[in-house]
Amino acid sequence: MKGNKTTFVCRECGATSIKWIGRCPECMEWNTYDEITVPSVSARSAARSENKAEKFSELTLPTYMRSHTGMNELDRVLGGGLVDGSVVLLSGEPGIGKSTLLMQICSELGKTRKVLYVSGEESKGQLKLRAERLEITGETLYLLTETDTDSVLAECDRLKPDVIIIDSIQTLSSERFTSVQGSVTQVRESAMCLIAYAKKNSAAVFLVGHVNKEGGISGPKILEHMVDAVLYFEGERTNSYRIIRAIKNRFGSTNEIGVFEMGDKGLREIPNPSEVVMAERPVNTSGSCAGCVMQGTRPIISEIQALVTKTAYPSAKRTSDGFDHNRMSLLIAVLEKRMGLKFYENDVYLNVAGGIHLDEPSADLSIAMALISGITDKVISDEIIAFGEIGLSGEVRAVSHIDYRVKEAVRLGFKKIILPKKNITPALKVPDDVQLIGVSNIYQVLAHMTTKAPNE
Ligand code: TYD
Ligand code: MG
Repeated sequence: MKGNKTTFVCRECGATSIKWIGRCPECMEWNTYDEITVPSVSARSAARSENKAEKFSELTLPTYMRSHTGMNELDRVLGGGLVDGSVVLLSGEPGIGKSTLLMQICSELGKTRKVLYVSGEESKGQLKLRAERLEITGETLYLLTETDTDSVLAECDRLKPDVIIIDSIQTLSSERFTSVQGSVTQVRESAMCLIAYAKKNSAAVFLVGHVNKEGGISGPKILEHMVDAVLYFEGERTNSYRIIRAIKNRFGSTNEIGVFEMGDKGLREIPNPSEVVMAERPVNTSGSCAGCVMQGTRPIISEIQALVTKTAYPSAKRTSDGFDHNRMSLLIAVLEKRMGLKFYENDVYLNVAGGIHLDEPSADLSIAMALISGITDKVISDEIIAFGEIGLSGEVRAVSHIDYRVKEAVRLGFKKIILPKKNITPALKVPDDVQLIGVSNIYQVLAHMTTKAPNE
């Protein structure tokens, strides 16, 4: 490859350098630089000269052909189905269910499209066993166990599949690239070949990527820039719920999440996550409040639990699961200052049930109420739900999508909805037995908490 140059790429964060360095100045990791070969400048400029700029006003709108994967939860995250010619990176920890999910969608896609499932990790027998267990049919579903990129591409040329699943990208390598399997060069070059194939042949490609212990996609982090969509598959090993979220999507929004449950017949969709989360809610306990956040177009109701106990440490402990730690500290500071609650004497453990992340300011009010309930030991009735943003003076500010949230709360049977006063408009209609309680300041919520009965 005369005229080609070598450069060094960090396998953790994708930073580049013209010389090898021991510690990456971007991500501060040690010994993560791999050497890769890039085409010479003259080869690049030859390719560049063919490209002409077009007038923006004369461009025609593209029409994306989408296929349904048979999993509405996945279609939603993809922006309404799998787009032909798109490359999707599906990443998650080992054992979370990536292979299971992709095998399951093969069943539906395989009814109408030609699907090639390439596995570099399992034998055909293992794949068949799993497919039997998941009751996968699909007349036009093909399985290939291969780790050589060029053989995969050759098989793609022969079969001409509409959908290609690569499980996983880290197992692919080619002799053309002088680097070991799983290295950043192999992963990058193999992915580039597959992306080029996808674009040229309008085939949709799923690339499975394993994540490292820090949660980033190890090695193929650099793939995030090259692919059309990046999906993270998350969940606790100890809990059967799994959430899929889009981190990047060129063909849809990145706010949507898909919720699944892992069972003995593979992944089952959970179209109404709020119901599942709320089903396990304890009754008549202090420190618990229901809240609602928007995940894309879908409101999700979840339970916030706050355990507030006298501290045994010189400085009180604070932990938060499912809610931003800094935001929790800010809300605690507001409650201390505006309501005189002595959180500094107490440890605070905050938890959002069901593995949902509350990353919207509208969760503030329910978090604050759970905290107040936790410290005062007063109970919030299970008929109450709250949403609203809290400002530094303790004021409750209006939130968006109020009608979606109220509708979902009514559907789940809540009878008292505590919301920002500004959000109550004549257009906001609720059934006669549901009460809308407008609040403008955080201390007004105290009136809606009751002292626990001694026998409960
Ligand atoms: P898998 O899809 O192999 O995970 P990944 O490809 O992300 O590494 O699934 C892993 C786990 O799921 C495995 O521990 C077994 C469990 N599982 C079930 O509980 N039910 C099932 O029907 C299947 C196929 C797997
Ligand atoms: Mg797997």
